Amino acid sequence: MAEPPGFLTAQDVGSFAYLTIKDRTPQILTKAIDTLHRHKSEFFEKHGEEGVEAEKKAISLLSKLRNEMQTDKPIIPLVDEGDDVDIWNQYLEYQRSLLTDSGEAPRWFFSPWLFVECYMYRRIHEALNQSPPIHDFDVFQESKNANFFESQESIDALCEYLQQLRSAEDLGENHLKEEFLKLLQISLWGNKCDLSLSGGESSSQKTNVINSLEGLKPFILINDTEFLWALLIKCKKTGKPSGVRVDIVLDNSGFELVTDLVFADFLLFSELATEIHFHGKTIPWFVSDVTVRDFNWTVEHTKSSDQKSTSACGAAWENYVKMGRWVYHSHRFWTLPHPYCAMLQVAPDLYAELQKACLVLFKGDLNYRKLMSDRKWEFTCPFHQALSGFHPAPLCSIRTLKCELQVGLQPGQAEQLTASDPHWLTTGEYGIFQFDGPL
Ligand code: F6P
Ligand code: MG
Repeated sequence: MAEPPGFLTAQDVGSFAYLTIKDRTPQILTKAIDTLHRHKSEFFEKHGEEGVEAEKKAISLLSKLRNEMQTDKPIIPLVDEGDDVDIWNQYLEYQRSLLTDSGEAPRWFFSPWLFVECYMYRRIHEALNQSPPIHDFDVFQESKNANFFESQESIDALCEYLQQLRSAEDLGENHLKEEFLKLLQISLWGNKCDLSLSGGESSSQKTNVINSLEGLKPFILINDTEFLWALLIKCKKTGKPSGVRVDIVLDNSGFELVTDLVFADFLLFSELATEIHFHGKTIPWFVSDVTVRDFNWTVEHTKSSDQKSTSACGAAWENYVKMGRWVYHSHRFWTLPHPYCAMLQVAPDLYAELQKACLVLFKGDLNYRKLMSDRKWEFTCPFHQALSGFHPAPLCSIRTLKCELQVGLQPGQAEQLTASDPHWLTTGEYGIFQFDGPL
């Protein structure tokens, strides 16, 4: 077997990884610091002087982190009380061991990008963790909530659409498939709305995405949705008595999460699946990623909408959760720096959980990077090969492209894209549905 290619890294001056570490991540840290500042009086009201001291401490830890990053200091071990600290520090040791010959230490602009970028979010968590009594404060919560509110019109239009489908008499297989494909595409384009790409600035959905789907079709570079349909129909016909389980590894809160919940709702009422298992983060992550608080908040806020259809969707979602037809899982593995090919070894319980699914959907760009181990694969490398042995169940990546990584393209396709749009890999304008697994 040939050696796999190297990792994306900020060593490559001018690359997206480089620009992220140089510009976007310091900007995200500055915004987090500013958010803490703005909540000073709230901390005082809640915790008195202790709250103000904690705010100061968290800010000084975050400023230190920003300085370490901007001056390319060595990556230092984590020191908080989290139950993942040992695994993180072992991983740091492993990164160090790879460099012993060169005498280098892991550093921001030198080590694999995936590792250092995940590490930054873990350090943000550490800064808060070390600053009780404000240790539970999510510095990204405001912007996640704002994304939901700013996308309100699109959310209402989507819920209205779903309610009409729910109340339609027997849809018939062709119509059902058409709607399945539509709602999948909505969930794909929902991934444009992440707040990490925009450096934490607003990135909500303002237009009715349902009307834009036709025009967006040419931007889908790989479309394996026919396989997904075929697989679900097969699972339903030949399935186990326990039913058809679909797992969704979530990405962003706000509009994207609503598109995922709408799709999950459709899968249940159209009887394409019998249970949906969601996977989210245990700590605030990559600005907009879903935590359990965001998940519950979104269901509650959808339910309390003054728009009838939106509120009816929220009520249905709450009910699915109560009935155990929607199950939310958090696992610390999702906020470790490991690529998914290491899951079986690092988190065998999570791997076993995913194996129970008929299909696992991985939303978003970061999940793609972890599926691909963030390596510089050739554009034409087969998806199955780049997964490097990660095959817990049939799976599909649903992502808009926001990093210089894409596999499974046709020969010549990448060159053509570069000729027409040199930034096609990183703008989030293009999307993929990339499937791997036996049908
Ligand atoms: O900043 C790195 C990155 O993974 C980008 O590639 C992408 O812009 C963003 O973070 C996260 O995107 P997503 O929310 O789609 O995982
Ligand atoms: Mg994200």
